[in-house]
Amino acid sequence: MSKYFSPKFDKLEPYIPGEQPQNREYIKLNTNESPFDPPREVVPIIRDEARKLRLYSDPESTELTQAIADYYGVEPTQVLVTNGSDEALNYAFMAFSDEDRPIVFPEITYGFYPVICHLNQIPFQTISLREDFTIDVRDYEGVGKNICIANPNAPTGIALSLEEIEQIVRTNPDNIIIVDEAYVDFGARSAVPLLYRYDNLIVTQTFSKSRSLAGGRLGFALGSAELIADLKTLKNSCNPYNVNRMTAKAGVQTLRENTYFKNSCQAIQYNRRYTRRLLEELGFQVLPSSANFLFVRTDRISGKDFYLKMKEKGILIRHFDDPKITDWNRVTIGTKVQMDKFLETVREIFREQDTEQEEN
Ligand SMILES: Cc1ncc(COP(=O)(O)O)c(C=O)c1O
Repeated sequence: MSKYFSPKFDKLEPYIPGEQPQNREYIKLNTNESPFDPPREVVPIIRDEARKLRLYSDPESTELTQAIADYYGVEPTQVLVTNGSDEALNYAFMAFSDEDRPIVFPEITYGFYPVICHLNQIPFQTISLREDFTIDVRDYEGVGKNICIANPNAPTGIALSLEEIEQIVRTNPDNIIIVDEAYVDFGARSAVPLLYRYDNLIVTQTFSKSRSLAGGRLGFALGSAELIADLKTLKNSCNPYNVNRMTAKAGVQTLRENTYFKNSCQAIQYNRRYTRRLLEELGFQVLPSSANFLFVRTDRISGKDFYLKMKEKGILIRHFDDPKITDWNRVTIGTKVQMDKFLETVREIFREQDTEQEEN
């Protein structure tokens, strides 16, 4: 840290993103990207738009905002498009929470939430999950504080029902509830319909997972026109041209390719069921996931060693250094071929272990 760095950031521990190795080809099952390319119609559109790169993008992202509004059945004034949903989450925390208005989220959840809090000096409180990693909704009823819930939760993949989400929103009418739906398309119910009834709700979603645009960086927040206007004030104070031209065009086209989107979500769900069944047959404990990943552990090998052995063999999965989940790994669901390779590698690791034990 330089001597010039503001002391207010002394304790800031930045978010550590999953590895994006540039030196070796891995089967990447570590950052929940889609294994499928974006729809092929997107490519020429991006190429055409690249010719206009000399000009700034539309700060209002008018066309994309309208397309998202149409898709989700809300008004354009209820949509803010952002540079990944991380940006939307940052604005949503920043806009409604401060020293006097802390925010609550589960103890095991997306690691970016505490980072956003530290960055913006927002006090936060975490609530433990149950033993089985589920969220007990009663812990959030009428807490009288702002709340952020990832649904499905990460890295567990476990989803709350729409009724449970509504219960949290309804019982905290004077507080903002942020529902982070980064993985909702893989099997959970979206809280978007609740926007018609509640004005204390913000839903964030992303094009990074189910829509194959992680590298394009595109996310959005939905909420009442008033809440979205607040978020826009922050966006225009931080980064008015937050979504670049090519990404905005890619977003519009991706929304048009709905059959492709539905098919790729279905393929992920199928591969998830398949991988879960085979992992369980191999003796793994696997949490019930509604996302494009599985959270898994086994008594046969520690979480860290499993991650390291997999990496050695060319497969990246995600291990977290948090002692509460150190036995576990998060495995992104890829193509069937990738999942077969992953399962084959698990068997290989177990075989090697058996041989080592026999030798000793
Ligand atoms: C729960 C959750 N929310 C939000 C995000 C942010 O995604 P992005 O900024 O790519 O939209 C992620 C990314 O992994 C996530 O896991």
